[in-house]
Amino acid sequence: MDRGLLFVASVVMGCLAPGVSGNGHLSFANNTEVHITRTGCGLTKLCVETPEQCDPTGKTSCLFASIVTTAPSPPNGVDLLVELLGNSSGYIALGLTANETEGTSMVFICAQNRNGSFFFRSAQRNNLNNTISLTQRIVKNITGSVNGTFIQCKFMLPAVNATTRTSHVTTFVTFLAVGNVINGMGIGDINIHLTNKPLNLADPTSNVATTAVPTTAGSSALTSQAVMVLLSVLMYRLS
Ligand SMILES: *[C@@H]1O[C@H](CO)[C@@H](O)[C@H](O)[C@H]1NC(C)=O
Ligand SMILES: *[C@@H]1O[C@H](CO)[C@@H](O)[C@H](O)[C@H]1NC(C)=O
Ligand SMILES: *[C@@H]1O[C@H](CO)[C@@H](O)[C@H](O)[C@H]1NC(C)=O
Ligand SMILES: *[C@@H]1O[C@H](CO)[C@@H](O)[C@H](O)[C@H]1NC(C)=O
Ligand SMILES: *[C@@H]1O[C@H](CO)[C@@H](O)[C@H](O)[C@H]1NC(C)=O
Ligand SMILES: *[C@@H]1O[C@H](CO)[C@@H](O)[C@H](O)[C@H]1NC(C)=O
Ligand SMILES: *[C@@H]1O[C@H](CO)[C@@H](O)[C@H](O)[C@H]1NC(C)=O
Ligand SMILES: *[C@@H]1O[C@H](CO)[C@@H](O)[C@H](O)[C@H]1NC(C)=O
Repeated sequence: MDRGLLFVASVVMGCLAPGVSGNGHLSFANNTEVHITRTGCGLTKLCVETPEQCDPTGKTSCLFASIVTTAPSPPNGVDLLVELLGNSSGYIALGLTANETEGTSMVFICAQNRNGSFFFRSAQRNNLNNTISLTQRIVKNITGSVNGTFIQCKFMLPAVNATTRTSHVTTFVTFLAVGNVINGMGIGDINIHLTNKPLNLADPTSNVATTAVPTTAGSSALTSQAVMVLLSVLMYRLS
């Protein structure tokens, strides 16, 4: 192959790469059926939502997430099974962080592009200036559906460990957010609609009828996952 041809080939590869290898950390389940309900909230799954106690079946506005954790397997932490739904013409997101006013948050985004097709992104929020950037965090078994503005999705986050300092491996501040999709499949500014107190994600009852109760001391400052690798948002906008 002469130099010119090689150059053309690598440019073509370079253009293809962002959409392909750029999302290699995401894997999808082939079942596209997603039907999220409140069944099990406070019993078998931890639920967070706004407005409070809203109906997640899409008839009224409701931004909702549920979380189930697997048993801890040190030092790999726990796996989180997440359900997320809400109304947005762009994206809905679940955030997990040690402290929403410092460090970073892990953000998981279920979105629709302009033609109403579902897509998924993992991202990181800088908690100081609210900027969001895509990350390569591994997310598995993703399924999602879009109907008008109604977005529902499920996914699994392997090996989540909130801290290196305490036993509170599963204690996180959670938030729910929405935002716009820009330039095809780019992630626009994040607008947080609800931030919860630190919750033990492993305890389905940790958010039951306690929304007004102040958090107890000792929930500790947790270091957020250092495993995230920042990727240029621009790279993704090419895809
Ligand atoms: C989904 O389907 C693809 C292609 O048919 C297959 O390679 C992949 O293993 C399937 N994923 C699961 C989780 O079954
Ligand atoms: C949410 O989306 C569903 C399905 O598209 C729609 O019927 C419903 O009116 C929407 N709710 C709001 C509050 O926009
Ligand atoms: C969380 O990470 C710390 C530090 O790496 C480790 O000591 C601890 O065992 C982990 N916890 C779990 C449940 O994996
Ligand atoms: C929807 O848009 C995406 C990305 O812009 C594209 O890959 C896909 O083929 C489109 N689907 C349809 C049904 O037009
Ligand atoms: C937000 O903060 C990060 C880290 O401090 C910095 O790199 C980034 O440029 C800031 N973004 C804006 C828009 O200020
Ligand atoms: C992930 O998907 C695979 C294939 O569909 C399934 O066997 C497995 O049970 C799923 N795992 C979880 C945690 O949902
Ligand atoms: C989409 O939502 C509308 C009402 O908002 C409902 O009538 C319709 O059955 C839904 N479609 C699917 C495929 O769920
Ligand atoms: C969160 O961070 C702020 C600012 O750094 C600090 O004042 C606050 O004590 C922290 N909260 C927790 C629970 O660590």
